[in-house]
Amino acid sequence: MKKIHVDASCPYDVLLENGILADAGTHIAPFCKNDYAAIITDDTVNALYSTVLEASLLKEGIRTVKFVFPHGEQSKSAETYIEILEFLAENHLTRSDLIIALGGGVVGDMAGFAAATYLRGISFVQIPTTLLAMVDSSVGGKTAIDLRAGKNLAGAFYQPKMVLCDPAVLNTLPQDIFRDGSAEVIKYGVLGSRDLFMHLKEKGENFDRTWVIAKCIEMKSEIVRADEFESGQRMLLNFGHTFGHAVEKMSNFSLSHGRAVSIGMMLMAKSALAASLCEEEVPDEIEAVLKAFSLPLETDYSAKDLYGIMLSDKKRSGDSLTVVIPSEIGKCTLLKKSTDSLLSFLESAVI
Ligand code: NAD
Ligand code: GLY
Repeated sequence: MKKIHVDASCPYDVLLENGILADAGTHIAPFCKNDYAAIITDDTVNALYSTVLEASLLKEGIRTVKFVFPHGEQSKSAETYIEILEFLAENHLTRSDLIIALGGGVVGDMAGFAAATYLRGISFVQIPTTLLAMVDSSVGGKTAIDLRAGKNLAGAFYQPKMVLCDPAVLNTLPQDIFRDGSAEVIKYGVLGSRDLFMHLKEKGENFDRTWVIAKCIEMKSEIVRADEFESGQRMLLNFGHTFGHAVEKMSNFSLSHGRAVSIGMMLMAKSALAASLCEEEVPDEIEAVLKAFSLPLETDYSAKDLYGIMLSDKKRSGDSLTVVIPSEIGKCTLLKKSTDSLLSFLESAVI
């Protein structure tokens, strides 16, 4: 078993091992003082993995109640969030009980936000079941729900007590969703590890899952240690996201997040090269790895349309936006750009 420590304001460990789900009860018991926990999950994950989890908790004498909601981003809403809070209250969860988030980023973000706010804070454990949730959303304490005005607009920084990561559950993940998570994995390679990048480029989707997931979590753990509340270094994790979010929004979310990030990384690399901000090889290298994962490279949307959307980016600060430049493979840098200069920057990559 691999243990990765996350030295945040409330520190915790990520435990990573094939098959660890069946042993979850043993690891969770120390955080469950009253032997009582609420599992929050979606219908797809519930059908696949709840039984194993519940059996392992029962073995440790932990009683559970369970809230199951329909899978998908549309459930990450104020309505479901309130339903979860009501469910916790009806089932008399107290501050010394525990919430267990079993699922992808939607479950983790929403259960985490419920944990942050129910009784002004109750402990929670993350059990991520998608690649994206394993390498990104379950670690670092960002929790949120969507509002009608946009994604992740209400939330809190709230760290879990522990993350249990079982790569074996990825065997049931549809290829589409696996591929989407791969875009985030590639992002880690570009922003901080040439070794990881080269491994992904060589192996494509047959990458060494345990090694790659561990490497991404270690990188995220280091970033969170240095900048938990995102005033600097943590923004590096947004590589590909500024342009990516614009593409995703232009498509009215018909293009998935991972694919939009893939296009966003490619556009940023091309813009950076045109502005002499990165090594010559960077766009070609990024293109090669994205092709190895059959991820998209370009968009038909115009630079003007994308720029219009970027002006309402929630990460905008006054009349500037910090973009993440892939200076070389394995190293990104932050660059504050005036919103005025963004259009011509983007135009160099989009026809
Ligand atoms: P998701 O949670 O919707 O999961 C995708 C689909 O896969 C769902 O239909 C789910 O039921 C299914 N699924 C999950 N695990 C499965 C498994 N093992 N086998 C079969 N099916 C499975 O989506 P996601 O991509 O995991 O997460 C996206 C969400 O994460 C977004 O809401 C995004 O905003 C959020 N996010 C948060 C952070 C953060 O730092 N908190 C970071 C990145 C993304
Ligand atoms: N997913 C970006 C972050 O955790 O900061």
